Amino acid sequence: MSMPTTSPTSLTITRPDDWHLHLRDGAALGAVLPYTARQFGRAIVMPNLKPPITTTAQALAYRERIVEALPEGADFEPLMTLYLTDLMEPDEIRRAREAGVVACKLYPAGATTNSDAGVTDVRKIHRVLEVMQREGVLLLVHGEVTDPAVDVFDREAVFIDRVMQPLRRDFPGLKVVFEHITTKEAAQYVAEAGPQTAATVTAHHLLYNRNAIFQGGLRPHYYCLPVLKREQHRAALVAAVASGSAKFFLGTDSAPHASVMKEASVCGAGCFTALSAMELYAEAFEAAGALDKLEGFASHHGPDFYGLPRHAGTVTLRRETWTLPDSVPFGDAQLKPLRGGETLAWRLQP
Ligand code: NCD
Ligand code: ZN
Repeated sequence: MSMPTTSPTSLTITRPDDWHLHLRDGAALGAVLPYTARQFGRAIVMPNLKPPITTTAQALAYRERIVEALPEGADFEPLMTLYLTDLMEPDEIRRAREAGVVACKLYPAGATTNSDAGVTDVRKIHRVLEVMQREGVLLLVHGEVTDPAVDVFDREAVFIDRVMQPLRRDFPGLKVVFEHITTKEAAQYVAEAGPQTAATVTAHHLLYNRNAIFQGGLRPHYYCLPVLKREQHRAALVAAVASGSAKFFLGTDSAPHASVMKEASVCGAGCFTALSAMELYAEAFEAAGALDKLEGFASHHGPDFYGLPRHAGTVTLRRETWTLPDSVPFGDAQLKPLRGGETLAWRLQP
């Protein structure tokens, strides 16, 4: 078998979407939205605001604020989600569905940024999950247990046994996205699960292992949740996306926090990657010799799983060395992109 020896200088693919994104609100929203609207045609907008988006009315109002914050002429569609709490009413799911909300997010209470109001026990939302299954509303899962007795690096693998397996058994017809997977256990679980289970994978979990957090000192901009794992896990994620399996698709989990919040004694979790998302994914796929699988991952598998049309248009990535800005404005503060000040090998056109 012969491998192509020349590397392409440009790559044109169907317009991609981001199936896991944090846009925040107010001035922060206005600061980060243009980056995503340039890179992607649609994005699944996470509902972990303060207070969280738990009602259809809040989701519609948030959608309105996003649309108003879009740059002139932008062609971008926000896809809205609700934040599940122990108190969510099944009727709210019906209202949400009618209003175009596509999914609900399950945060185990306390698992990550703004998840205090999350679900304390999945059994408490069984009636809600039944309605979601019936109405075709997707369940997006932050898959980490919050048990303080479980090591931070094991929380995703333990979540599969304690929560994911019973959930899949009880709701076999529910479409479930295991969000931002970080371990070989999760990659294997999703690969072997039935067709109703899929996963998003971030660019940073494809590019980095946990050494990045400690490279020559503590690097807060590489701290996100679920936290970066060992090299064997990164390699398993790369293998999963490079396989071309339709179960894996793009979700940046771009999660902006002001630099002052990241470079603090207690650093908020989240990597900001929206500015150069497709460039980072192209780098990861190229390193794996799988550039030909980028289009499926970024542009086909997501809409197919969500039951939405693929985009008609295309985007082009060119091989071009450029330097990411060290930081960008973020309301009254500054925001540091992952790899800020460093060079990238690919550039999204124009
Ligand atoms: C996210 C955030 O900042 O909202 N942080 C992160 O590290 N990914 C929350 C989340 O998705 O866990
Ligand atoms: Zn997230």
